[in-house]
Amino acid sequence: MNVKEVRITFHEYENEKELSQDEQVLLGKALQATDNSYAPYSEFHVGAAVLLEDGTVVIGSNQENAAYPSGLCAERVALFYAQSQYPGVKIKALAVSAKADHFHIEAPITPCGSCRQVIVEVEQRQKEKIRIIMQGETGPVHVVQGIEALLPFSFHEEKLKKKL
Ligand code: THU
Repeated sequence: MNVKEVRITFHEYENEKELSQDEQVLLGKALQATDNSYAPYSEFHVGAAVLLEDGTVVIGSNQENAAYPSGLCAERVALFYAQSQYPGVKIKALAVSAKADHFHIEAPITPCGSCRQVIVEVEQRQKEKIRIIMQGETGPVHVVQGIEALLPFSFHEEKLKKKL
């Protein structure tokens, strides 16, 4: 038996002002996108902004439903919109931010497991990693270069291929 370790690397910035100008703008758009969230049940408003290789920015926000599982996270709203409206255009970065009705979010928001799985597939399709920039309403920013840092040992499409 061997004990093995998986290490992840992430960059922590004290706040958004330490980011590049482009990343500050993208994160700002993610925070703005929280205004379009529909979250009457959780009262937790998440915004996502996706940067495409041609400079286009697509935003998304969580959209809830009285039948709870029918709602969708901000990240998947933005990613699926980008893929359906701009097929073949690579996604370079995804910024995520959030604010809540009754408390202040100071810790970075990280994509949920289902969103991580979707990001895995986007990276596989485009054969390029996505830079993921995460912040709460304010406070430190965490950045990872590629979803593997957030979802090691992921399940991906290669594993579905059967030999003839
Ligand atoms: N949510 C997101 O939109 N993204 C995340 O990364 C975490 C959770 C949403 C889902 C639900 O509408 C609300 O936040 C509370 O879980």
